[in-house]
Amino acid sequence: MNKTQKILTAFLVLAIVFAGVVISRVWLFKPQSTVKLVKIPAGEYDTEVWGKNYPLQYAGYQKSMEMTPSPTGYGGGMKVQKAEMQPELYINFKGNPFSKDYTEDRGHPYAMEDLRESKRIGPAAKAACITCKTPYIEQLYKEQGWGYANQPLLETMEKAKHPINCANCHDPETMGLRVINPAFIEGMQRRGIDITKASREEMRSYVCAQCHSEYYFEPGTFKVIFPWDKGLTPQQMYEYYATKPNGFAQDFVHPDSGVPVLKAQHPDYEEWQNGVHGQFGVSCADCHMPYMRKSGQKYSSHWITSPLKNIEESCSPCHTQGKELLFSQVKAFQDNVWQLQHTAGQQIAKAHTAIQKASTASAVSQTELANARELLRRAQWYWDYVAASNSMGFHNPVQELNTLGQAIDLSHQSVNAANRAAGTNTL
Ligand code: HEC
Ligand code: HEC
Ligand code: HEC
Ligand code: HEC
Repeated sequence: MNKTQKILTAFLVLAIVFAGVVISRVWLFKPQSTVKLVKIPAGEYDTEVWGKNYPLQYAGYQKSMEMTPSPTGYGGGMKVQKAEMQPELYINFKGNPFSKDYTEDRGHPYAMEDLRESKRIGPAAKAACITCKTPYIEQLYKEQGWGYANQPLLETMEKAKHPINCANCHDPETMGLRVINPAFIEGMQRRGIDITKASREEMRSYVCAQCHSEYYFEPGTFKVIFPWDKGLTPQQMYEYYATKPNGFAQDFVHPDSGVPVLKAQHPDYEEWQNGVHGQFGVSCADCHMPYMRKSGQKYSSHWITSPLKNIEESCSPCHTQGKELLFSQVKAFQDNVWQLQHTAGQQIAKAHTAIQKASTASAVSQTELANARELLRRAQWYWDYVAASNSMGFHNPVQELNTLGQAIDLSHQSVNAANRAAGTNTL
């Protein structure tokens, strides 16, 4: 070996050692000791049993019971009525239980309690409602397939006591991430995505997407269906609903305007995946379950709440601009979205009234009236896609401001059509 070869060899050896160190830190890193004190059997839905093996994650899960407001003033883990800030909800959801009771979302451990206390459910309610509230659906689906969805809710709740917990997201044998909501698995299948082949990175969002998504109940069977066959944007989902899939035409008919309204349900996953973070592969868990350290152990925060309560851990691994700047940027997005959301909601309320008035006019044009109703149905869906999502637009401010702009335009068009129907507008 000459001198150059010796230097090169030494350099190569150093490079291999360095790469080895890096790879072992990244790949072989075990976030927490995996010593199991108890064996967690399949079908174990009691968090306390899981907590014996994994105290750090259990403590985080328990912390989700703290009811603290969002630092931006939107959302938060408090049980407050959404209509307090936006009284237009009473008009837009008139004739639907959402006009009676519509609270902010709070921590996962409250899911069953909040369902039980909701004024939206009565003796006729179906067990389909617990699909996103408890790990018990794993067992129900195994035993009855979708048959469970059509069973009486109150009776099923007697058996299914545990709220959303470890078993919704983890396989008890391996502790690997899993999804158990059959509606999500089927919805993804129809999009051509096989959930069993998902990467770990994808699973860090799929575990959330199995519940934080838009859905509807199939008429007659109450089977839960995700409306994703044409895509996940507000426009694509509207086009899907326009085909009256599985005989589903609307959630309710508005008693004043006669509009067949689609009620949106928390499309957080849909909103996120088209946004800048979704497109750049930043998962739900990256922000909502950041890595923490305690006594030398690195683990994922299981205090699932607003990431702004923890900006340092949630955002700073990727953004070095500083807490204050990040916070004010989120707040600015949300203020802008809130302003247009409120405007759109109020304008939609006015359109319901305008159509009601027009429908009682003596020589009303039925064609124009039908046109006004269709414009308002679309406007309300666009508004509600944003209003029913939980981040006040942060997950995708560009799409949401556009969607609200369209909702405002469509609701104005609807008022004009209603006035034309009644012969009181020449526009
Ligand atoms: C880039 C970081 C980031 C990602 C990725 C992200 N979120 Fe969020 N999320 C936020 C922020 C910031 C808020 C607003 C919190 C606030 O207003 O205090 C939020 C709010 C929420 C809320 C409402 C919380 C409340 O206080 O009521 C829910 C629910 C939510 N996100 C779910 C999800 C889901 C599900 C995903 C993945 C599909 C996701 N988020 C992806 C940052 C993120
Ligand atoms: C809403 C979904 C969800 C729930 C509920 C949940 N986890 Fe996790 N858990 C995750 C995610 C996501 C990760 C990160 C996994 C990864 O990146 O591979 C994780 C990671 C873990 C890990 C690996 C170490 C770590 O901290 O990264 C353990 C152990 C764990 N969870 C235990 C629990 C226990 C115990 C409960 C119930 C008290 C629980 N989890 C509830 C989603 C959840
Ligand atoms: C089994 C269904 C289910 C799964 C899985 C699930 N969520 Fe939720 N999530 C809910 C429900 C239901 C609520 C509202 C509970 C209530 O208000 O009683 C909620 C509430 C929340 C909140 C509000 C908490 C607060 O303090 O305001 C956040 C944030 C959130 N979820 C984020 C996530 C993220 C991130 C994931 C994935 C890591 C996830 N969720 C997985 C159903 C689920
Ligand atoms: C895993 C990495 C990662 C995490 C964690 C993360 N971000 Fe980002 N963020 C990105 C990337 C990538 C982009 C887009 C490209 C860029 O700006 O570099 C982005 C863009 C942004 C933007 C500009 C958005 C726009 O519309 O142009 C804001 C604001 C932002 N992030 C805020 C946050 C906040 C607040 C958090 C914590 C709650 C957070 N991010 C967490 C990676 C991350």
